[in-house]
Amino acid sequence: MSEKTIFWDFDNNCIKFVEQTLLPAEYKIISCDSIERLAKAIKNLEVRGAPALGVAGAFGVSLSTFIHDDKNMDGFLKLVFDDGDYLSRTRPTAINLSWGIKRVLQSIQNAKSPEEARENALSEAVSIAEEDEKMCRQIGDFGAELLPDKCTVLTHCNAGALACYTWGTALGVIRSAVAMGKDVSVISCETRPLNQGSRLTAWELSRDNIPVKTIPDSSAAFLMRKGEIDAVIVGADRITQDAVFNKIGTYMHAVCAKYHNIPFFVAAPSSTFDKEHRENEIEIEIRNRNELAFCGNKQLMPDCVDTLNYAFDPTPLELITAIITERGIIRPSFDENLKMP
Ligand code: MRU
Repeated sequence: MSEKTIFWDFDNNCIKFVEQTLLPAEYKIISCDSIERLAKAIKNLEVRGAPALGVAGAFGVSLSTFIHDDKNMDGFLKLVFDDGDYLSRTRPTAINLSWGIKRVLQSIQNAKSPEEARENALSEAVSIAEEDEKMCRQIGDFGAELLPDKCTVLTHCNAGALACYTWGTALGVIRSAVAMGKDVSVISCETRPLNQGSRLTAWELSRDNIPVKTIPDSSAAFLMRKGEIDAVIVGADRITQDAVFNKIGTYMHAVCAKYHNIPFFVAAPSSTFDKEHRENEIEIEIRNRNELAFCGNKQLMPDCVDTLNYAFDPTPLELITAIITERGIIRPSFDENLKMP
């Protein structure tokens, strides 16, 4: 996949992104020229996946510099910083969102005019997007070496091109391994409740002619027990000093992989590392009841029953075989080696 998930439209000075909630039925590019629309897209998962959120936040701040036109520079910067703050609160768990926003805000803090701020912000946001592609390809090359020449890999959620600027982290490893000539098949967990695995991962891989089968999330342990999974690779939304946060369900795959002696790999760029916090300090997003209570128009639960719809879970590092970054592979002991990125 060489398409970009989210990019800047230089002719119209607005953001364009792939509307991911419509996939796989429809591939549609949305033009976004307001902060409200971008915030809605992030909250609704039209744009999702940690690295893609980093790029979205970065282009969001750029967009804000084009929207506001206060002649007073302090007033102008305040409006843009407020937009950055608002966007960074749309999804709390993936650190890349606030990381991308902060990086672009820093690039404009000493600007002398709105024009200079626009130029700096856009140049920084484009760098973030281009660096993301480079990092994904490096992660892919490092990670591909870890896979056997012929293997079946289980993945959860979507850590592919759609979750990044392009190429992907976990799926980047699979793409690089296939490009190297390895015979890789993928088991894609459907990833309830929003089905990023069956809708997005299966769509991406089938377009690239990489063999992929979708399973219900609850089949993973059984397939591991049957010896049908050689490795697990997932992405990450945040990596603290003691845990990897990723889509809800990742932790149970890691526990099962450990029990069955199957390597469990995490693929993530350095922008996903959070050196300042530990697991219990991180806010885990809890999403809307309706995502569980309905499938399209079909009601799946009685009206009187509430839900507990966590979007992510933390996997303790002791369950992880290695973390694949753009700078190399981090192995245990993570206490010492996590200082690297
Ligand atoms: O809720 P989502 O779809 O944004 O969750 C995405 C994930 O959990 C991905 O695995 C993670 O962001 C890594 S993407 C390279």
